[in-house]
Amino acid sequence: MKVLIFPTASEAIASVADRVLDEVKRKASAVLGLATGGTMEAVYDRLVLRAQVDDVSFANVKSFNLDEYWGLPPDHPASYHTYMRERLFERIDIKLANTRLPRGDRTDAAAECRAYEAAIANAGGIDLQLLGIGRNGHIGFNEPTSSLASRTRVKTLTEATRQANAAFFDRPEHVPPCALTMGIGTILDARACVLLAIGSAKSAAVAKAIEGPVAATCPASALQLHGDMTMVLDREAAVGLT
Ligand code: F6R
Repeated sequence: MKVLIFPTASEAIASVADRVLDEVKRKASAVLGLATGGTMEAVYDRLVLRAQVDDVSFANVKSFNLDEYWGLPPDHPASYHTYMRERLFERIDIKLANTRLPRGDRTDAAAECRAYEAAIANAGGIDLQLLGIGRNGHIGFNEPTSSLASRTRVKTLTEATRQANAAFFDRPEHVPPCALTMGIGTILDARACVLLAIGSAKSAAVAKAIEGPVAATCPASALQLHGDMTMVLDREAAVGLT
């Protein structure tokens, strides 16, 4: 595992956005694994800007997002489909047909999860997986105690995670109780992973993920097992490291 610690959040964010752009420059038909959440907003802003400046096309890129709330249709204002359209897909030349998130509005969740895994495999697997980290160490919506071998499935969100995401909803009680998420095993299958953590609120989870034992109590610790894993931190997120 490579750990990059930057003095400021903006340098850490720029490093991650540039890593994604470099992947697309290297392989025009790259398969990207994408994340949502507050941390990624600035990454996508920087990525859009750099793609324009460097004239990089995403026309042949495919993408798979980590997760989506169970029960929300793609056009719901707080869905991750909407987040991705507004923050990235409509601002670059990626083809919407080449982008995919789990569908939260299907009647058969298990079938949707199987189809999602099959679609990733059919695309040849994920070249670069972008990750954030929850304060409890979750990656995707793999909450603590998730199996380290898990595949895409429905997960119940912890109360703390629902509260952390309440700002994206009109009312806290509108945060859905469950989500569809790639599993930890699915994430570990990506050829490379880059995780971005910003701010002191993430420092305890970051320390456990990097220096703690590999354990289901901190799902991000499973990333220690990945052969091409980069942790990108600002100074505050790194304060818990020895
Ligand atoms: C979202 C996701 C989550 C977030 C994590 C951090 O697709 O996969 O694991 O990355 O909850 O969220 P923020 O950045 O809002 O602190």
